Amino acid sequence: MDAIKKTNDFVFQTYFRQGKAFIRGEGVFLFDEDKKKYTDFLAGIAVCSLGHCHPKITEAIARQAATLVHVSNLFYTRPQADLASKLCEKSFADRVFFANSGAEANEAAIKLARRYFQKNGEKQRYKIITMEQSFHGRTMATLSATGQDKIKQGFYPLLEGFSFVPFNSIDALKDEIDETTCAVMLEPVQGEGGIIPADDGYLKAVRDLCDQKGILLIFDEIQCGMGRCGTLFAHELYDVTPDIMTLAKALGNGFPIGAMLATDGAATGFDYGSHATTFGGTPLATAAALEVVNIIGEESFLEEVRQKGRYFKGKLQELKEKHSRVVGVRGKGLLLGLELDKDAAFFVEELLKKGFIINGIQDKILRFAPPLIIKENEIDRLISELDSLL
Ligand SMILES: Cc1ncc(COP(=O)(O)O)c(C=O)c1O
Repeated sequence: MDAIKKTNDFVFQTYFRQGKAFIRGEGVFLFDEDKKKYTDFLAGIAVCSLGHCHPKITEAIARQAATLVHVSNLFYTRPQADLASKLCEKSFADRVFFANSGAEANEAAIKLARRYFQKNGEKQRYKIITMEQSFHGRTMATLSATGQDKIKQGFYPLLEGFSFVPFNSIDALKDEIDETTCAVMLEPVQGEGGIIPADDGYLKAVRDLCDQKGILLIFDEIQCGMGRCGTLFAHELYDVTPDIMTLAKALGNGFPIGAMLATDGAATGFDYGSHATTFGGTPLATAAALEVVNIIGEESFLEEVRQKGRYFKGKLQELKEKHSRVVGVRGKGLLLGLELDKDAAFFVEELLKKGFIINGIQDKILRFAPPLIIKENEIDRLISELDSLL
């Protein structure tokens, strides 16, 4: 039985899969069972940012796998210590909690925000305001925090204490904050919602408002962080820092890891025993992620991401000028979206036949999140196929 039939027969049918099974990855390329080569413009949805099987990440995983794979968080390990200190050195944060996925990192952030006020004598503050069209994960709390109704159907009642305001409207946020609010949570660049960046000045206004009201600001950088937008963290583009930030996806370049970073002040919400997970920050996961941060965190690497992002966006703009079916071009760095009048699925399927992997979101938006090591000539090849399809 082949992989496709076996999967369809034995795995829960919760994903709309395209009819390809991949057996190998190398850099920006994937190979299917017939050894056909594909250029990957999705990178496992903003995960394999250094490309598939990057030699340094493979080497770090292999070395650590042969040395020490798992130790309980009842003890200390060197890779976890090194990754935590590196993330703090490279960011606004003072402390890190390690998890295994994006949803888990966000769960930790939600719990920290609530407990911070419970502990600090403002017990009435437990509500979190998030954005319409946001996506924060599929666990019950992160689904409750997500501003998209379609993925909530069938799961009610959800967790109480979340409300939603339109993204990029500071007035709506101002009206929603009251004495029960503990935090505002948002993606600096919305991913699943349609590649929608925060407007200039918006994040700064949100930061000021949170400071004025004495509430916490959480940035979910699970998709837009780790160099994806051309700076190590997307909020650097806006010159604003949060109190809490979540990371996952590209942090391990495919090895599962999530992280919640916080300032010393916000981190006081947690103390001994208040949060835990068995696999959080294993030596294996953190050794892989440390290598990722070392590479992506280099300014010369990030400068190249910015350059290629500008190049790619310029080419998408040219398509917009040429074809009336293209409604908009959005995004930052190498997280880009092309909004069509309809039918993103058609383009996704046709491009797959031609050997390109992209994906469609919100029915009519093509999402591009290639490995950050993509080259201009590879971008040119995709643009030329898209041009003829349009
Ligand atoms: C912004 C954002 N937050 C959270 C998540 C959830 O991450 P995970 O799928 O690792 O649980 C995602 C996943 O797409 C995401 O894009």
